[in-house]
Amino acid sequence: MKRILSGIKPTGAPHLGNYFGMMKPAIELQSQGEAYYFIADYHALTTVRDPQAMRDNTRGVALDFLACGLDPEKATIFRQSDVPEHTELAWILSCVTPMPMLENCHAYKDHVAKGKVPDHGLFAYPVLMAADILIYDSNIVPVGRDQKQHVEVTRDLASVMNRLYGKKEPLFVMPEASILPQVATVIGLDGQKMSKSYNNTVPLFEAEKPLRKKIMSIVTDSTPVEAPKDPANSSIVALYKLFASAADVEKMEADFRAGGQGYGVFKQRLFDALWEYFRPFREMREQLAADPGYVDSVLRAGAAKARAVAAKTMDRVRLATGLR
Ligand code: TYM
Repeated sequence: MKRILSGIKPTGAPHLGNYFGMMKPAIELQSQGEAYYFIADYHALTTVRDPQAMRDNTRGVALDFLACGLDPEKATIFRQSDVPEHTELAWILSCVTPMPMLENCHAYKDHVAKGKVPDHGLFAYPVLMAADILIYDSNIVPVGRDQKQHVEVTRDLASVMNRLYGKKEPLFVMPEASILPQVATVIGLDGQKMSKSYNNTVPLFEAEKPLRKKIMSIVTDSTPVEAPKDPANSSIVALYKLFASAADVEKMEADFRAGGQGYGVFKQRLFDALWEYFRPFREMREQLAADPGYVDSVLRAGAAKARAVAAKTMDRVRLATGLR
């Protein structure tokens, strides 16, 4: 049985990039193996400094994930910090991590390029992520393209550890990233990658009015209403493609080319389709939210299951490294 694992940071409300890049594929995989999905609160500490926001976001992200179809009967869903073994393994891995490997990582490099002073957490971020993955002997890691490099670091560290400590039998399983090409990078309202840090997101459970406002704010060119428009370069079409049927996409593309309709009309069509697509999830979210203890109880049960697996791996790692 394959082990599937992924994580999401509680840095704000999950958005279309998170959903199509990771949550949806992860939900689809939950019946195809033994799945572990977690809320990466240790990782979020690199940016979230408001303790109440951390608590609220953690529950919020878990609730959103459950509302979208994550089934706690099939997948183990937990909070990363409920399994502190992750940080113990991260330390052990960090002792064999070459500094240049981390200096090469995009998130760190971008931070430094912007002239900001990185803290150690941001620098060591990929090592903690490697620990998250390796501690569950994960085979498959469904992620968006921005996490590809981190999974590569994980594989490199697994190799180093296997070379050093796995002479008789490998200490760690070699994980594989699973990245769906059509949704590897979902774009945001401004045409860049959709990201909470760019403030260009479409949150999954935004209320109707602000959601409409966001969709209406999608950046477009100044082609006049009557002129034909190029669907290939349109953020409206790119987002519509995420959830509209092939026939509806074709129709929108044809209407783009025909001219005679302004971008506002297309944005309205995008909004209507989006609102309908998430309707069942919205209803489910309302139902789940009505029981205030539900999310906590799911996270608690998930933590117990995850911790049992992580503790076993750590016994193996402590023995292999000579800590025991
Ligand atoms: P995070 O919280 O930034 O994002 C969660 C998932 O959503 C994907 N994603 C996107 N996919 C396509 N298009 C986009 N615009 C887009 N924006 C976000 C991300 O690729 C990710 O899969 N470091 C991770 C969390 C993490 C993790 C792990 C993941 C911690 N430990 C171990 C896998 C395995 C992160 O920051 O995700």
